Amino acid sequence: MILRTPLAAGHQMQLQLQLLLLPSVLLLVLHLLLCDAKTVNPGDGMQVQHHQMTAEPGLPEPRAYMPDAQHLDFVYHDHEELTRFLRATSARYPNLTALYSIGKSIQGRDLWVMVVSSSPYEHMVGKPDVKYVGNIHGNEPVGREMLLHLIQYFVTSYSSDQYVKWLLDNTRIHILPTMNPDGYAVSKEGTCDGGQGRYNARGFDLNRNFPDYFKQNNKRGQPETDSVKDWISKIQFVLSGSLHGGALVASYPYDNTPNSRLLKGICRSSALCAMFQTYSAAPSLTPDDDVFKHLSLVYARNHAKMSRGVACKSATPAFENGITNGAAWYPLTGGMQDYNYVWYGCMEITLEISCCKFPPAYELKKYWEDNQLSLIKFLAEAHRGVQGFVFDPAGMPIERASIKIKGRDVGFQTTKYGEFWRILLPGYYKVEVFAEGFAPREVEFVIVEQHPTLLNVTLQPSKRLEGIGPMGPGAVPVGGGVGPGGLYRPIPAPQHYRPPVPPYAGAASSDSGIFSTISNGLNSLYSNIFG
Ligand SMILES: *[C@@H]1O[C@H](CO)[C@@H](O)[C@H](O)[C@H]1NC(C)=O
Ligand SMILES: *[C@@H]1O[C@H](CO)[C@@H](O)[C@H](O)[C@H]1NC(C)=O
Ligand SMILES: [Zn+2]
Repeated sequence: MILRTPLAAGHQMQLQLQLLLLPSVLLLVLHLLLCDAKTVNPGDGMQVQHHQMTAEPGLPEPRAYMPDAQHLDFVYHDHEELTRFLRATSARYPNLTALYSIGKSIQGRDLWVMVVSSSPYEHMVGKPDVKYVGNIHGNEPVGREMLLHLIQYFVTSYSSDQYVKWLLDNTRIHILPTMNPDGYAVSKEGTCDGGQGRYNARGFDLNRNFPDYFKQNNKRGQPETDSVKDWISKIQFVLSGSLHGGALVASYPYDNTPNSRLLKGICRSSALCAMFQTYSAAPSLTPDDDVFKHLSLVYARNHAKMSRGVACKSATPAFENGITNGAAWYPLTGGMQDYNYVWYGCMEITLEISCCKFPPAYELKKYWEDNQLSLIKFLAEAHRGVQGFVFDPAGMPIERASIKIKGRDVGFQTTKYGEFWRILLPGYYKVEVFAEGFAPREVEFVIVEQHPTLLNVTLQPSKRLEGIGPMGPGAVPVGGGVGPGGLYRPIPAPQHYRPPVPPYAGAASSDSGIFSTISNGLNSLYSNIFG
């Protein structure tokens, strides 16, 4: 632990308090890891210490809310205004930003992504790429505006804020302020609930439009979703946040569950619902649950009020510490966060940042004050855990080596530079590395709190087989081949990482029948009311 002096004077007391709460969470997590405790009193471990969470001890903390150095109005920006802002910013800060489009919406609006980094045009080998996605639901635009302000804040404080400088020097941050510009165009300011503008121009809910780990998703892929799928297949994102409105909570995978269950949140009084309590939503936890909880807590604890876990309305759930497992809240099929995690090993969580989906513009400044620190500190979590390269004996990077942290059955792959990253909490781990033509390897390593663990793994070619491969003597290897020195590289058994088979694949059939019909009906009602 690193003891730090209190923040400089002038910072808001409230934010200071939250900063001070953060270390206690880390302590608790550590405590859980080391002591294998089953329950923890959230009052324990409270200490007036300030803990540096990132790779660079001695850095000052990011500032609590600071007014923008340059002006970006706290109003909603329509697509033309948003485009103009992004273009102007990238023209003004060519060394810190790059603007690209990942595709177009149905109605032809560009899906703009702004990269903010000291290396905006090129991936920095060995350093993580991270992302934020806003406005996937068109009528939930607070995140869209928050992301514009985040861009503005980054570029204007790079030279004056050491923390921002460190973050941008060591991370490439990709920001997609709106994934659903068409939905936004038909949404109405001041409308707190309901579905108008939620969907894309063809009426599809984009956060139900991704391939699903647990259930077959028969929804036709939409251009907005396809663009995002293509995007995340090309860049190895380590960490991601998807911004929503309609609740105040950080929600983490899985969103879906092998079993269909009814919802308990809206069922409090009715006798019918009580009967269905046994089907009520239950958590659907990933093997990286500790990490997802931690990431969610980082957001919630750095937020002005999320971690208080106060219900938005009396009829809506209150979330302990401001976080929830997605499925425990309500299960959904085809969500973006499960897809990011299962297919690409990107740790994405869903950030519900406003009780009202489309609050009046005069509240935006307050939302920015509430979320600014969370938005920044969350991204820095990409620098926690293990990172490194996989090489062959000649020191050449091995692309698409498959990696698993032992005991965490959702794997991931190396990039074309042989890089990998995985966010992990302090503890002892084993990594398993497989690559075509190489002997698999296991390596043990330790994660500490203060900095990421650097781990390079060299794989040795698989055994010399003297022409007697798995196909028998004399067989001509197809796509394999004889390497230097007569080294036969057999086509491997499919050891490569693939999205794993759902643990309870057989149970998915429970998706039909009366319970499921009721469940689905409630579910869409529920999601129209919330997030
Ligand atoms: C951008 O970087 C170049 C090369 O390092 C430098 O010469 C130039 O002054 C920088 N421009 C701005 C606007 O910072
Ligand atoms: C791992 O490999 C990278 C890339 O070659 C190198 O820069 C780094 O120093 C190596 N790290 C360790 C701990 O060997
Ligand atoms: Zn939403």
